[in-house]
Amino acid sequence: MACLSGVIRGHVMHAVLAEEFAVRAQKALDARRARLTSSDVEIERFDGHSGKERLGTPVGKPAKKAKLPGRMSHLRSDDDRFWRANSGVDEEVPVAKPMLATAEQLQPYLRRIDAARWYSNGGPLVKEFEARLAQHCGGGAFVATVANATIGLTLALFACDLPEGALCMVPSWSFAATGHATLLAGLVPWFVDVNVETWALEPDAARELLPAAPRKVSAVLPVSPFGAPLDLRSWHAFQEETGIAVVADAAAGFDSVQADEVPAVVSLHATKVCGTGEGGFVVSTDQRLAEEIEKRANFGFWNSRESSVRALNGKLSEYAAAVGLAELNNWGQTRAEFQRVASAYRDALAGQSAVRLQPGFGDRWISSVVVVESLADDAESITAKLAKHGIGSRRWWGGGLHRHRTFKEFPRHQVTQTEALADRVVGLPCWRDLPTEQVSRICELLLGRQ
Ligand SMILES: Cc1ncc(COP(=O)(O)O)c(C=O)c1O
Repeated sequence: MACLSGVIRGHVMHAVLAEEFAVRAQKALDARRARLTSSDVEIERFDGHSGKERLGTPVGKPAKKAKLPGRMSHLRSDDDRFWRANSGVDEEVPVAKPMLATAEQLQPYLRRIDAARWYSNGGPLVKEFEARLAQHCGGGAFVATVANATIGLTLALFACDLPEGALCMVPSWSFAATGHATLLAGLVPWFVDVNVETWALEPDAARELLPAAPRKVSAVLPVSPFGAPLDLRSWHAFQEETGIAVVADAAAGFDSVQADEVPAVVSLHATKVCGTGEGGFVVSTDQRLAEEIEKRANFGFWNSRESSVRALNGKLSEYAAAVGLAELNNWGQTRAEFQRVASAYRDALAGQSAVRLQPGFGDRWISSVVVVESLADDAESITAKLAKHGIGSRRWWGGGLHRHRTFKEFPRHQVTQTEALADRVVGLPCWRDLPTEQVSRICELLLGRQ
C-alpha cells in the first residue's frame, strides 16, 4: 500500500505539472493563432517549429537562434543522426523506387474524366474507387477517400468531437504525421512507449497506462508499425469499455487493413504499396462515420452550403482516383512483386539471431518498406556500412516523435523501447523490381559476411 500511495502521489504531482503544462500549451496555442492573424505569418511558418518558442517564450520576444542564419535555423536538428534524409553518397541501390500505374493504364479513366467534365467533389471515379477500396477492406466496410493520410487522421480526430486541448495518447514510435495530425485536430499528444515485440501500442498496454496519464485521456491514436496489422477488434473493445475514442493510424497498412468500427486511416502516398501519388482513405464498418469524414473533408458541407462542423478541404480529386483505380487493377501483380522481395529478405535472414524482421512480415502481410532491428550493430553503423557499398537505407521514424523539435515539449511517459528501436532499427531497400541478388548482398553486408 505504501508503495501504491507513493505511486499515486507521483501521479498527482505529475497531474499538477501536466495541468500547468496544458494551461501553458493552450495559452501558447492561442498566442500562436493571434500571431497568425498578424503580418507575422512568414516568420511563424519558418521559425515557429521550436517547441520552446511555442510554449514558453513571450510573444514578441525572439526565441534563441541556432547557428544557422535567420530563418534557416529550423533546418538545424538537435540530434542529426536520427534525421538524415539520405546517406550523402550516390546510391546504386536506393532505399525506395516507387512505380505507379502507367500512362497507358490511366488513359481509359482520364477519358472518362474528359467526358464527364467532373474533376473533384465526390465525382464518379472517386465513388467507384471508394467502393472498390471498401471491397478490399473486407465485409461491411465503408470508405471515405481523403487528400492524404495526415488529413485523414486529422478528420477522423475531428469526428471524435473532443474539446480543444484534450489529451490524446500517441505511441512515440511513429512518423511525424501522427504528431502533426494530433496538433491539427487541436489535441495535446501524450507520448507513450510501444510493445517490445510488435513495436505498436497495444490495447492492454493503453489500458494499463491510463492511471499514469497527466490528466484525462480523451483519445488514443495507435499506429501500425510499417504496415503490420493492428488488432482493431481489441481496440474497439477498449473504446467500448473506456469510452475513450480510438483512431488507428494504419498509414502503411493497405495490405493488412480489415475494416472494424474503429476508423483506420490508410495512406495512398506514392511510396506505399498502392498509391495515388498523394492520397489516403478512412475505413470503418460505421457508415455514419465514413459520411462524417466525407462531410468534414468538404468544408463541413452536407446537402447544404452551410458549414455545420469543424472541417477542411481534404478531398481526393478525380485524377487521383483514376490513378487509384488503375493501381487496384494492378494490385495482384504489385502484391506478388512486393511479396517476392519480402520473401527474399526472410530467406536471407532466416536462422540467425543478429537481425530480425517484424513478426509476420512477408508471411502474413507485406509492405513497401523492409525494416530490420539489429541486435549486433547500431543503426548508425549499419547505415554507414551500407552507404560505403552504394546501398541506401533510412531510419524511417528517426528518434521517435518525442525527439522531434516540434513535439519535444509535449508530455510523455517513459519511452525506453522507442529509444531502443530508434537506435537499432533501419529501413532497407525495398521496391517491386529490386533484384533478389541485391537482397542477398544487402543481407550478407548486414550480417557482416562481406
Ligand atoms: C505512421 C504514418 N502516419 C501517417 C503518415 C502520413 O501519410 P501521408 O503521407 O499520406 O499523409 C505516414 C506516412 O508515411 C506514416 O508513416
